[in-house]
Amino acid sequence: MAQLFGPAANTVAKVSIVLLASLPVVVIYSGSAISQSPYNTKVGIRLDQPVPFSHAHHTVDLGIDCRYCHTSVERTAYSGIPQTETCMTCHSLVWTNSPLLEPVRASCANGEPIKWNLVNKAPEFVFFNHSIHIARGISCNNCHGAVQKMQITEKGRPFTMQWCLTCHNDPDQFLYKDSANPHLSPREQVFNLYVKVQEDPTTAKMSTVERKLVSGGEQSVPRDLVAEGKKLLQEYGIKQAQLADCATCHH
Ligand code: HEC
Ligand code: HEC
Ligand code: HEC
Ligand code: HEC
Ligand code: HEC
Repeated sequence: MAQLFGPAANTVAKVSIVLLASLPVVVIYSGSAISQSPYNTKVGIRLDQPVPFSHAHHTVDLGIDCRYCHTSVERTAYSGIPQTETCMTCHSLVWTNSPLLEPVRASCANGEPIKWNLVNKAPEFVFFNHSIHIARGISCNNCHGAVQKMQITEKGRPFTMQWCLTCHNDPDQFLYKDSANPHLSPREQVFNLYVKVQEDPTTAKMSTVERKLVSGGEQSVPRDLVAEGKKLLQEYGIKQAQLADCATCHH
């Protein structure tokens, strides 16, 4: 009898079974690769801004505190974007002829706010609060990257749910205390990091965690500090068990 299936058919069948079986894996993998790509998460992508505002210039070279412009960051959920008047306290006196500052002068003259393009945005169904994180000494850089180096502001982290949960599941691996300045409150520690950058640009005198933050890494602490992180959890009265509850971030 003539063979219905030639010897090659066997191979074809095997190959197609392998292909079929791996299809869902490939789809899921490429789906997550796409959702984690910079195109989708927007991490590291600079947006066009009406004025090329430089955090590097204003926070390190000039030493202006974050709170001078982001006035509500330690008190409320929102950090706030500065009003034109905040810029004009200086720019009505310095760099008054700079063409780059024309939109600032125009905004001041016509009373219309500058239309900054927002870099960071959590979806509507996610609850986020700046002040509680700052109160626990969590650095702006942990969530926004090395802001003090940025010439044009870019997004530092993906802000996916998984990213938030990495810390909410194990906050003891992220909390730290500046041992060189034990008198600082956790809140002051957050802002003092930038003063330290001015005083110690080589970062030679900084702790491992601080050096990581300054270079744009995350606040996660070395193993030998996790015990201290556990102590800080107690000291701050953080209810770790509730941090990963859906209702903490969705309500
Ligand atoms: C002189 C005022 C000023 C100071 C000081 C300042 N910022 Fe800003 N910041 C701005 C302005 C204006 C914007 C909006 C334009 C932009 O995105 O660059 C902004 C935007 C941001 C954003 C992005 C907001 C968004 O669009 O999602 C972050 C994050 C941020 N600042 C963090 C910081 C941190 C951290 C510090 C302190 C190290 C700081 N800023 C100090 C003026 C300031
Ligand atoms: C505390 C004073 C101060 C405040 C507040 C301030 N700036 Fe400046 N800014 C300066 C100084 C000083 C320079 C010049 C720095 C240099 O080049 O040495 C400057 C430079 C600039 C430049 C570069 C100008 C050029 O032609 O190179 C831009 C753009 C700018 N600022 C935008 C802003 C905006 C937007 C705000 C408000 C969100 C702001 N600044 C708030 C002091 C300030
Ligand atoms: C635990 C992470 C975290 C920390 C710490 C943090 N941010 Fe944010 N920031 C976010 C998230 C998430 C958003 C988007 C919030 C939204 O859309 O509601 C955001 C948004 C912003 C914005 C845009 C305006 C706004 O309020 O939505 C600015 C400006 C900003 N942050 C500045 C700061 C500064 C300055 C610090 C430090 C003093 C800081 N952030 C610390 C996570 C963080
Ligand atoms: C590096 C650690 C860290 C990261 C990253 C982080 N959080 Fe938190 N978050 C904390 C800690 C610690 C607390 C608890 C503070 C307390 O209970 O005193 C907290 C508390 C909260 C709360 C509770 C506020 C309240 O009023 O009870 C919300 C909501 C929240 N975080 C949302 C988020 C979201 C959304 C993200 C991601 C965009 C995020 N957090 C990223 C550490 C973190
Ligand atoms: C620490 C904060 C936090 C906690 C706790 C949390 N989520 Fe989320 N969740 C987020 C953030 C942030 C996003 C938006 C992610 C994005 O934009 O990519 C999100 C998105 C989602 C989405 C939309 C789909 C997606 O993945 O983007 C669903 C559904 C969801 N969360 C369900 C849950 C459930 C169920 C729980 C409890 C088991 C939970 N979340 C706990 C922060 C949190």
